[in-house]
Parts: sequence; structure tokens; C-alpha cells
Amino acid sequence: MEPIKVGLLGFGTVGSGTYTVLRRNQEEIKRRAGRGIEIARIAVRNPAKAAKALNDIGVADAGSPAVTDDFNAVVDDPSIDIVAEMIGGTGIARELVLRAIVNRKHVVTANKALLAVHGTEIFEAAHANGVMVAFEAAVAGGIPIIKALREGLTANRIEYIAGIINGTTNYILSEMRDRGVDFATALKGAQELGYAEADPTFDIEGVDAAHKATIMSAIAFGVPVQFDKAYVEGISQLAAIDIRYAEELGYRIKLLGITRRAGKGIELRVHPTLIPAKRLLANVEGPMNAVVVHGDAVGATLYYGKGAGAEPTASAVVADLVDVTRLHTADPEHRVPHLAFQRDRLSDTPILPIDEVTSGYYLRLRVADVTGVLADITRILANTGISIDALLQKESEQVDDHGKGETDIILITHETVEKNVNAAIADIEALRTVVSKVTKLRMETLN
Ligand code: NDP
Ligand code: HSE
Repeated sequence: MEPIKVGLLGFGTVGSGTYTVLRRNQEEIKRRAGRGIEIARIAVRNPAKAAKALNDIGVADAGSPAVTDDFNAVVDDPSIDIVAEMIGGTGIARELVLRAIVNRKHVVTANKALLAVHGTEIFEAAHANGVMVAFEAAVAGGIPIIKALREGLTANRIEYIAGIINGTTNYILSEMRDRGVDFATALKGAQELGYAEADPTFDIEGVDAAHKATIMSAIAFGVPVQFDKAYVEGISQLAAIDIRYAEELGYRIKLLGITRRAGKGIELRVHPTLIPAKRLLANVEGPMNAVVVHGDAVGATLYYGKGAGAEPTASAVVADLVDVTRLHTADPEHRVPHLAFQRDRLSDTPILPIDEVTSGYYLRLRVADVTGVLADITRILANTGISIDALLQKESEQVDDHGKGETDIILITHETVEKNVNAAIADIEALRTVVSKVTKLRMETLN
């Protein structure tokens, strides 16, 4: 049988990684897929750059796929069966994906931004044209988490998902904590290793993780993708002192993506999070990703692996290419729905605003070192119905203009609703003895 023909859009980290893996393992992949998978055409902005990259991979001119700078020519080419979009972003990538779908080509993409923001439009177009859009590489790089959520866990009512789903920020936090590297140097390292997005603020500010959490939330709970409802907070404001105090209290700080079925709706949030140091997630280091999924039947399951980089991501892209090759002749109605639930059975359960989220909290207060200050703070917390789980009071380190000491008080609260904590913080900050803004971080026990 003729190989299935793939048109590759973009030849950067993931595009070239995909080409390399497909080429190296082509015989095994063919035995699995039932026919060969051939990257027949590549579209890039700069064909000379792609030609050099192909040469570096060891592809001789004669065996090289046709490289063009005309993206539409590839997407419109009748001989192409699958378009693999490896460009990124929501601009030209969206246009090309929609055009490929209208041309009745299946699409494989690693582009989480595109699906988190325009997923509804893209999946509807795919349904209307009877084609598949496969996106395993969009979440957690090489970890087959989409497959697990859509298929392996399909018997379960999913309760929550919590994961380290951005390799760049986890790499930065690990480098800072373990090797004392400063933030800027650690970020540069992540960029050089090919982990970071084209715009690394997407990584640092939690946007990339929120794209991924949005996709997982939709698949887990059968709701539309709603990136605009996600709460997003990154690591750029995280202070080294909080990493240190958290350690003293037995916690690690990780950027977590969390989505949870709660009483009144679904929580969907990304933020730096304290996790007990003994939890497996707390010990996931460098660019590694890990996702905990809790289902009512199976309990907690954990998925761990490389979340970024050329070949780990290519592993997921090629898995999608194989899936599409196996299934493209199947009746569209018998394929696994894009979001795991039948498209006419998605639910309108709301995504909760962050004020309604329930969490434990870490609060750091800089206070005047005078009698009664702690009593005032605990009274405010008690009046707001917040109970304290742990407390750390540091020795006076700073002295004010009148020779009086200042000290840090660190509190860990039991779970409470975020709006209650915000109300308590407002009252605490109004105390004369509290000398700076309260630092608030969320905490998950992952029990
Ligand atoms: P790269 O920047 O390494 O490669 C992107 C490719 O697309 C390059 O060939 C680039 O061309 C081309 N390109 C970029 N912008 C345009 C544009 N406006 N018009 C035409 N071509 C363009 O990105 P990655 O390979 O890292 O990422 C690709 C996708 O995979 C993204 O959606 C990303 O989020 C996702 N992803 C990345 C992972 C990783 O570890 N890197 C992991 C999982 C997903 P040029 O070389 O000329 O800039
Ligand atoms: N920039 C992303 C990360 C790439 O660091 O996790 C993988 O999606």
C-alpha cells in the first residue's frame, strides 16, 4: 500500500524532531500503522534554513521531501492526506488548520494555544468535514495524557487533574532551587534547550500551562474549551524567600495546572502552588512533567515524562500520525470524539471564578515585632472562619528607623474559599503593625 502523505507546516524544534523520529523508526512505525507514513512536503518561511536542518539530520538532497515557502500550496495539495501543523500561535496556524480541514485533510497539531482559544471552532469544522484533529503533543509533551483521559479513563467520573504541565517553568524553578541559578539564566537555558515557547512570557506567566489545563478540563468534564475563564498566575512574581520558607514548612513550590469538579462548577486555574515535599509531584524536576488524574473508579493515577523538547514531543506527534493512519477510513461517527464526550452532549457546567475556589493558603506577613500582633492576626482569621494549620515566626531580621524590629510570620491555613482569605487579608493589611502587603500562595495537599 502507498504510504500516507503528510504535509508538515513549520520545521523548528517539533517539526524537525517529528521528521527525525519518523525517519529513524519508519519500519517499526509502518508495522504498527499498517502502511508507511511519509512526510512528502514541508512548508517553511525560509526554505534554505530547512534545507540546512534536513542536511544536519543527514537527509541527502535526493531523498529530501519537497520544501516550499508556500504554505497554502501544501494545505491545498490533493496528494496530502494529513497536515501536521508545527508552527504555533493563533494567527497563520489557525488559518492553515481551518483551510486544511475544509480541504478534508486530517490535522495533527502540537499547538495548545490554538486549541485552547479556538478549539470549539476547529472541532466543529472538523466534524462538518468528517476529519480528525489529533493533538496529543499539545499537552505534556511526550506523555500520552490525552489518550489516557479520552480513552483509558473513559469509565471514570473524573474528580480532579493536577499537573506540572510546563517544562520551562519547572526547569527554571529546579535550576533556581537546586543550583542557585538566577531566573534570567535559567530561562535562557530553557530557551536554548528548545523547551520555551516562541514568546517565553507564555511559559513564565502561566499562559501555556493554562492552555493545557483548559484542554484537559474540557476532555475530563465534557465542557467546551474555555481558556478565557481560566485563572492564570505565573512564576515571575514568586520570591526566593517564599521558596525557602515553604521548604522550612515541608513544602515545595511548583507551577500547577489544576482543574477540579467542585460543588457549584469546575475549577480551572494555574498558579504557583505549595505541595507537601513528600508527594511525587513535588519531586518532579527539570523539564519533566507529571499529571495526577483522579477518577472515581480508579482513584489517583500519575503520568510522568518529558514535557518538552524535540523528540519527546515528536513521540506524541508521531503517535497521532499513526492513530490517524489507522482510523482515517473509519466511519467518522465511530471515532473517539475530539473532546472525549459526544459533541452534542457537552455540558454547560460553569467554570468558577477564582474567588469561589477552595484551597489551603500560605500567607507571609511582615509585621512589627511587638506584643499582641499575632493575637490580632489570629483573631481576624478566626472571625473569617479560617483555621490555621501551621505557623512559623522568624527572628527579627530588619530594624526600622526607631530601632524596633520587624519579623516575618508565615501561616498555612486549612482549606477555605478564596474570597474569605481575601477578606481576611484586607483586614490584616489594615493593622498598623503589618508593615507590607501580605504574600498569598495557594496550597494543595493532593490527598
Ligand atoms: P519553533 O519556533 O522551534 O518552530 C516553529 C516553526 O514554525 C519554524 O519553522 C518557524 O519558522 C515557523 N513559523 C513560526 N512562525 C511562523 C509564521 N508566522 N509563519 C510561518 N512560519 C512560522 O517552535 P516549536 O517547534 O518549539 O513549536 C511548534 C509548536 O509545538 C507550537 O505550537 C508549540 O507550542 C508546540 N509545542 C512545542 C514543544 C517544545 O518542546 N518546543 C512541546 C509541545 C508543543 P522560522 O524558523 O523561520 O522561525
Ligand atoms: N513551552 C512548553 C513547555 C513546551 O515549556 O512546557 C511544551 O508544551
